[in-house]
Amino acid sequence: MTIWSGAVFPNSCPSRGRMATRRLLVTGGAGFIGANFVHYWAGRHDADRIVVLDLLTYAGNRTSLAALESDPRFRFMQGDIVDTELVRALLDEENIDTIVHFAAESHVDRSIHGPADFVRTNLMGTAALLEACRLTWPAQSDSHHFHHVSTDEVYGTLGPDDPAFREDKQYEPNSPYAASKAGSDHLVRAYHHTYGLRVTTSNCSNNYGPYQFPEKLIPLMIVNLLTGKPLPIYGDGLNVRDWLHVEDHCVGIEAVIERGRVDQTYNVGGGNEWTNLDLVHGLCDLLDEQFTARPDLATRFPDAPPAAGKSCRDQIEFVTDRPGHDRRYAIDGEKMASELDFRPRIGFTTGLRSTVDWYLDNEAWWRAVLDGSYRDWVAKQYEG
Ligand code: NAD
Ligand code: DAU
Repeated sequence: MTIWSGAVFPNSCPSRGRMATRRLLVTGGAGFIGANFVHYWAGRHDADRIVVLDLLTYAGNRTSLAALESDPRFRFMQGDIVDTELVRALLDEENIDTIVHFAAESHVDRSIHGPADFVRTNLMGTAALLEACRLTWPAQSDSHHFHHVSTDEVYGTLGPDDPAFREDKQYEPNSPYAASKAGSDHLVRAYHHTYGLRVTTSNCSNNYGPYQFPEKLIPLMIVNLLTGKPLPIYGDGLNVRDWLHVEDHCVGIEAVIERGRVDQTYNVGGGNEWTNLDLVHGLCDLLDEQFTARPDLATRFPDAPPAAGKSCRDQIEFVTDRPGHDRRYAIDGEKMASELDFRPRIGFTTGLRSTVDWYLDNEAWWRAVLDGSYRDWVAKQYEG
């Protein structure tokens, strides 16, 4: 039997009442977006319980949640989303009513070197979580909710004049990462239609901001500049991404959880398209400015180009392109705007400036992750 959202359930998620408290399970809450989301939610929903389940892979970092460790509303559990029994026990013990599912292998380049981990976590992990919900939560409960955090990469690539991704765009994933996320989106949908699980999905564009692991473009460039390393630009540098500050993404997810319609997908984006080369030029100019404005930086980061009177742009190096590199992503944010009154609020100049400042002011955080496994990854990806 197929259960259609409008027929069986109230059509939007907040039937539980807007002021009701929630008991959240946040998977992947020690990763970049998950940690930002946990801080965001804890700051806005005083009465809610937040339980984080995270395996602490190379990308997970418990220190990103340090400020919450002694908060009685918060609990951290190290564990694997693939472990259905563990998840079931946690759902039961904590009486969880809302899952916000971030946990994933998330880096496209790593998926090209080794797709298996992506299939395991993104596909099997999502399947295991959904199964834990089915086996633990009351059937067709309208007070339980599974929100799935996905990506615009499931839609494939755009040409320069193609319209931006709408929610009805055909799925055409091109990397193992994107394919594994596409599969997870389908599983989420299937658990609603087959079992009546209340689900929503958001497909978001490229995020940037605090706590991002320095394998992704923006933090990689900042950390490489501060440590005097080259800035590797794939191919001709003209691939386009639609950048969104991570806090805006958190606001968007909150809007979907609180006001989104069950079984709907929502595209969340910045309306903010940049070629990689222009973006990296902008970052270089920001760093040059900061070194001029703050003389202490040359002492703290003696290997950075401005410390030797050079421009950061001199560090740019064009390197071999990513195989299957999607040319352009762009989000059509009309559904988020018209249904949920969501529009990104953080302008790119402000957002990039605050992100650069965050990395300048949180050197200990990023130095700590430049460990042996990080160096191995850099060697494999950029020196191999
Ligand atoms: P991330 O790589 O920074 O963090 C992923 C987190 O998941 C880490 O803390 C890791 O330890 C944890 N994890 C991995 N495997 C796990 C497992 N088996 N069990 C439990 N925890 C596990 O990722 P991110 O950039 O924060 O992305 C979060 C989510 O948002 C992902 O689902 C990603 O597909 C999606 N997304 C990311 C972006 C982006 O620009 N970063 C954009 C759109 C969507
Ligand atoms: O679009 C959403 C996706 O954005 C998320 O689903 C992914 O989890 C997230 O990693 C991100 O994927 P991208 O592949 O777009 O992000 P990344 O930061 O790896 O690369 C951004 C662009 O910069 C891309 O065109 C490749 C390019 N690039 C990246 C790196 C790491 C370079 O030119 N050089 C680099 O060293």
